[in-house]
Amino acid sequence: MSSSPRRLLVTSALPYANGQIHIGHLVEYIQTDIWVRFQRMRGHEVHYVGADDTHGTPIMLRAEKEGLTPKELIANVWKEHKRDFDDFFISFDNYYTTDSPENEKLAKSIYLKLRDAGLIEMRSIEQAYDPVKEMFLPDRFIRGECPKCGAKDQYGDSCEKCGATYSPTDLKNPISVVSGATPIKKVSDHYFFKLSDPRCENFLREWTQVKTPLQPEARNKMKEWVGQPGESKLGDWDISRDAPYFGFEIPDAPGKYFYVWLDAPIGYYASFLNYCNKTGLNFEEWVRPDTTTEQYHFIGKDILYFHTLFWPATLHFSGYRTPTNVFAHGFLTVDGEKMSKSRGTLISAHSVIESGFNPEWFRYYFATKLNDSMEDLDLNLQDFVARVNSDLLGKFINIASRSAGFLVKRFDGIVADQAMSNPLLTQIAGANEKIAALYEAREYAKALRTIMELADKVNAYVDENKPWEIAKTPEREADLQQVCSVTLEAFRLLTLYLKPVLPNVAARAEEFLSIPPLSWHDVHTPLNSQNPIKAYKHLMTRVEAPQIEALLAANL
Ligand code: 2FM
Ligand code: ZN
Repeated sequence: MSSSPRRLLVTSALPYANGQIHIGHLVEYIQTDIWVRFQRMRGHEVHYVGADDTHGTPIMLRAEKEGLTPKELIANVWKEHKRDFDDFFISFDNYYTTDSPENEKLAKSIYLKLRDAGLIEMRSIEQAYDPVKEMFLPDRFIRGECPKCGAKDQYGDSCEKCGATYSPTDLKNPISVVSGATPIKKVSDHYFFKLSDPRCENFLREWTQVKTPLQPEARNKMKEWVGQPGESKLGDWDISRDAPYFGFEIPDAPGKYFYVWLDAPIGYYASFLNYCNKTGLNFEEWVRPDTTTEQYHFIGKDILYFHTLFWPATLHFSGYRTPTNVFAHGFLTVDGEKMSKSRGTLISAHSVIESGFNPEWFRYYFATKLNDSMEDLDLNLQDFVARVNSDLLGKFINIASRSAGFLVKRFDGIVADQAMSNPLLTQIAGANEKIAALYEAREYAKALRTIMELADKVNAYVDENKPWEIAKTPEREADLQQVCSVTLEAFRLLTLYLKPVLPNVAARAEEFLSIPPLSWHDVHTPLNSQNPIKAYKHLMTRVEAPQIEALLAANL
């Protein structure tokens, strides 16, 4: 490991404050949290911040429907989100909201800097307007007949029946979802961030193609979007919305609000600023262009261009540093299909907990599927049961119960120090840099495969040495202590390797092994006879197939 600790600011995408956290979201928070916990174990300085993404039309309309003010709605949802993240051991250092004074101040000052740089332009555009509700309508609040196939009740941007894409003005017999009225066209002034300005285009070409080690798929996508020098492919970005809108009002533009996607990523910084103010960290040191700190954003592949085009451009032209990297993951499918409400596979995080599932089963399962690519990943429910029961419990957890009992009952919990030089242990400890490199590279599936192969070796060692047989022969006491000590130390090492994925199991294991919280360098701090272990406590139960049925039923 490098000698001076790295300084890392890490985020996951900010979930909208108008819905529940579901298992699709959890993939990302678990992916990020594993990385964050790994970096902390390596001794680096890590700050992991998040927030609810609270602004925009859908949240405003939902609050109205529920008879709440938007602020009341987002306060309720914040509590639910926070509860769900805590339940799944997502270790945010700060979980905040984009509807905060810090965010308003930052968003406004960033906008003014962009304006001073000559990158904001006002233009009149024509848009769909609901004359009854007296508001402009985002595309998905307009429905009508598909202009291609005539299918009824289709969204304003695409047809679910024939797959055609079009603009809402092409829909036949359009209606506003909000009031049922026929939308009219209305002109209004909008503010644009001039991404087409040659300064922006050049910056983004350099940032996405040269400066940032983006994932290859991401880099190629960006290459299409930013085009070749002189090719001017980027359109300007409309960053304003008209009242009524729940968000921040734009300076010097009464009745105009920042589009939610302008202030949402700034919400990363606002959450971090809020945290800096609470902890005494120096915010400026982290965000200035010449900083030596690192900044990483974990996101889904659907919001890539917000994070690799709009966000770096926003930061760069308002005088901030840009992200060190952006890590995009694919979508979650369940049994090979898109999650669906009618099949009960749009599984909420809370229902998982309510149905008695151990959240670490999901952390483990998702980790066995995650890698550094943007490929989709599948939750196969049968496979989930098999992996949890036969790998996690059968191979890993069982190692502890196979050795701890004898040590406690027959040797007062005292391990044999000479056991620690056993070649099996040398081999397991020797894998630590390989496993670390896999975590670092977000290749969790490979890391877990490596760890489980080591667990196989430990189980083979136990099967060969048969401690339950040795235990029957009184003159082989020393052998018994030796074998159980090797096995338990092997369990300690495997626990260390799995700790980023299974923080709760690791904490309970640390407790019964009587050791301080494991960090990565403890690979070289074996158990010792001065520190007797405590009685083994059950660490995890099996998942039973009927639980899966119950979980799906709970989400119908
Ligand atoms: O797509 C989404 O769910 C957005 N709420 C993500 C925002 S991430 C960040 F930019 F704020
Ligand atoms: Zn159609």
